[in-house]
Amino acid sequence: MNAANKNSIGRKSGASTRAVHGGVPRDRGFHSMTTPIVQSATYTFDNTAKLIEFLDKKVYGGQLDREEYARYGNPSVWAVERRIANLEGADDAIVYPSGMAAVTSLFLTVLRPDTHIIMTDDCYRRTRQFCETTLKKFGVETSVVPMGDREAMEAAIVPKKTRFIFTETPTNPYLRVADLEHLVGLGRRHRAMTLLDTTFATPVNLRPLEFGIDFVMHSATKYFGGHNDVLGGVIAGDAGRIKALKDARGMLGNVIDPHQAFLIERGLKTLALRVRHQNKSALQVARFLEEHPKIERVYYPGLASHPDHALASAQMSGFGGVISFEVAGDIKTTGYFIDRLRIPYIAPSFGGTECLVEQPAYFSYYDLSSEERLALGIKDNLVRFSLGIEDADDIIEDLEAALELAPPL
Ligand SMILES: Cc1ncc(COP(=O)(O)O)c(C=O)c1O
Repeated sequence: MNAANKNSIGRKSGASTRAVHGGVPRDRGFHSMTTPIVQSATYTFDNTAKLIEFLDKKVYGGQLDREEYARYGNPSVWAVERRIANLEGADDAIVYPSGMAAVTSLFLTVLRPDTHIIMTDDCYRRTRQFCETTLKKFGVETSVVPMGDREAMEAAIVPKKTRFIFTETPTNPYLRVADLEHLVGLGRRHRAMTLLDTTFATPVNLRPLEFGIDFVMHSATKYFGGHNDVLGGVIAGDAGRIKALKDARGMLGNVIDPHQAFLIERGLKTLALRVRHQNKSALQVARFLEEHPKIERVYYPGLASHPDHALASAQMSGFGGVISFEVAGDIKTTGYFIDRLRIPYIAPSFGGTECLVEQPAYFSYYDLSSEERLALGIKDNLVRFSLGIEDADDIIEDLEAALELAPPL
């Protein structure tokens, strides 16, 4: 693919226009409307002169306009990377076979022994496990600070050793929102890089690079793919840093399959449509739940009752499609209520076309006792509800009926 042959859809265009046209040339070869799935492990050269021309560019830093071997690049993958970079307002992006591959590759590539990172306590559990186990083996220490506690984050800085400050926004499951101005300022003062996992927000609702964040990452499995049919991960940032990650990918070998890349590019085309719909219906559902007598508490940054409502309103153009809430009752009452819902599937994940519902006490923390879960802030009666693209009125009717059937207190 010719990297120089970019199309003209720029940062002034809206998210939907960028999602459909951004970053990728109109002619992708064979006059195909869509990016072809280039199912090839290797790429051919017409003759030795052509090979030398390519190697000159590769070795002496020219702009490459073709592929060589699939571990170093693939046109279907390149296309989705360019499209995501355009959507995030980034120089470039790198796509991985899963969100976990993205975050682990970034840390393994960029961090050195005898360094330190800071992360917030409600980051995705597997990311935290990776930092506290694998990174520790390589001499990288992790400090975990409570989300939203700026003083704790500042106190956790180890001068000259803290290389990364990492958080998610909004977070799972309480949908806390990070203060980006504070993060960027803190990172710059201490020469620490900032990494934001904005899987829950998507670039439709928040573009962190515009605030000065260094790296943005997503589990593309969620809203980008959008149909619960593909895994993927992405990191976007400045050209030099993404190039370093692409060089490392050539060694680590964690390449995404072209068919996965195709599904993510297809999903991206409807990203803004889906997310805007989900923003709207989630707010409607959150308001309904907040008024319901059998619901103890609702966590949704679009509600004035959420601790980060003001911050979210200032930073984001939508509040996202996930709501958490506590059902009046215990672990069993909550399960009973969930079992009576007819629209959502009981499943982990979020960000697809179907509503999904889960009780975090079971899904993510079944190995812990009720007390251990509480210590992590996970209540037994907590429910995470991920909006699909179904109509809000139908979802509300379904919730109302299930709550009606839930045992009285
Ligand atoms: C916020 C967040 N980041 C990262 C991940 C990991 O992504 P993946 O499942 O694509 O590896 C997840 C998965 O649920 C997530 O919710």
